[in-house]
Amino acid sequence: MPFPREQLESACGEKLCKSETIKLRNKHIGQACQLFYRSDPLKIVRGQGQYMFDEQGTCYLDCINNVAHVGHCHPKVVRAGCLQMATISTNNRFLHDELVQCAKTLTGKMPGPLSVCFFVNSGSEANDLALRLARNYTKRQDMITLDHAYHGHLTSVMEISPYKFNQPGGDPKPDYVHVAPCPDVYGGTYRDIDYPNADMAEIYTKPIRDICDQLKAQGKGLAGFIAESLQSCGGQIIPPEGYFKAAYDIVRNAGGVCIADEVQVGFGRVGTHYWAFETQGVVPDIVCVAKPMGNGHPVGAVVTTPEIAEAFYNTGVAYFNTYGGNPVSCAIANAVMRVIDEEGLQENARVVGDYLLQQCREFKYEFDIIGDVRGLGLFVGLELVKNRETREPDTTAALWIVNRMKQVHQILVSSDGPNANVIKLKPPMCFSQKNADEFLLAFRECLTFLEKQRDGDHLPASNAVNSNSTTANGESMASKAQIFERQERLIKSV
Ligand SMILES: Cc1ncc(COP(=O)(O)O)c(C=O)c1O
Repeated sequence: MPFPREQLESACGEKLCKSETIKLRNKHIGQACQLFYRSDPLKIVRGQGQYMFDEQGTCYLDCINNVAHVGHCHPKVVRAGCLQMATISTNNRFLHDELVQCAKTLTGKMPGPLSVCFFVNSGSEANDLALRLARNYTKRQDMITLDHAYHGHLTSVMEISPYKFNQPGGDPKPDYVHVAPCPDVYGGTYRDIDYPNADMAEIYTKPIRDICDQLKAQGKGLAGFIAESLQSCGGQIIPPEGYFKAAYDIVRNAGGVCIADEVQVGFGRVGTHYWAFETQGVVPDIVCVAKPMGNGHPVGAVVTTPEIAEAFYNTGVAYFNTYGGNPVSCAIANAVMRVIDEEGLQENARVVGDYLLQQCREFKYEFDIIGDVRGLGLFVGLELVKNRETREPDTTAALWIVNRMKQVHQILVSSDGPNANVIKLKPPMCFSQKNADEFLLAFRECLTFLEKQRDGDHLPASNAVNSNSTTANGESMASKAQIFERQERLIKSV
């Protein structure tokens, strides 16, 4: 730890009581600012690894924080940031080793042609710059985005974020933005059950082809196609195999460039690969990264090819970003990438993620409410439905589970997707098998409780856990029993 214990303790002590914090927030922070658990918000004063602590010292298992990628307040990351802050933090118009080393490591993790970096401060900035690069390179403006996509909060990227502009009160979509369906084969426009044995990648890329054909017919061209490699806000979507390959071919044939938004899913989260686009065997022209890169510190980057970067240079308009690529941000990003490698976190995501997914899939045999379980590595979604045949979403149940997981089990999960019925898991990459078991037991309790309620039997919370639960993995039964006891105590205490 770079700080003495007493100093840390005083820093995480409350300066205001919680009700005062809420009062001040209500008065001085814009109401539009989103708050988790709005009716009973959490006041988090400290984080460590995959855990967060509130002002009373209650420990929460964090299953939603893909920003604290290598674990909250990882000592090596904290130390790297502190040391650099105590040395020099200035803008990137001076030479600095952390900057060039960060660019070298980052591009070293990407396929060959992606060798030039621009540093920024957030995912929104990264996507905004990616749009500029694409539009400048192609000298065109029209973009294709996916339905339900979210690419950030700046004006330019709100325009390509149907997740936002399709809300009541959202700004209308500009004519130069074209929306293709999100490749969600479970609940999307084209569902696998409606197209048995069909090539879902072909079905989902046809609308992209149609948009390109229409643009051509109108005498216009395409600047590019932007998509998250796995769509998160859309409900943890895993596109059908071959989808991106076909989509990229169509876009490139139309003269556009392909932008991969890896702001949520990059840096080894998918387990098998460092970048989620690699799982589809494609190489984008521009890749945008942020959130996990700084482990909580604001830093992001746009990585592209020398040709696209050179076209940007040739405009004669220099790119300058006061904070993007400052030595502190780069020292932190370097530390994050080192820790991912040193601690084998990508492999951990693969192993724990596989276990978690397999165990979640077992729920399908027991609980009708589980419509679909999908994921890659530590990027997992459980879609809740009222009816398995019709796949009608169960939004209420998802919200109920999110709250119960927090209140009863001290486990933080979220729900998302167009119908807010997908329970999302994207925990810090140090999430362990024991943590997966904790989640599974708590989740089982919630599902059991819900099932009883559906049957009209309003079971009191203290009896809600089914202590005869079995697991495919006999080895971890002892630790599960311990966790169970803890869960039961917790449940009885509410
Ligand atoms: C996929 C994706 N892209 C971009 C962004 C915007 O990133 P930021 O909030 O760092 O601006 C987000 C944020 O949630 C995101 O999920």
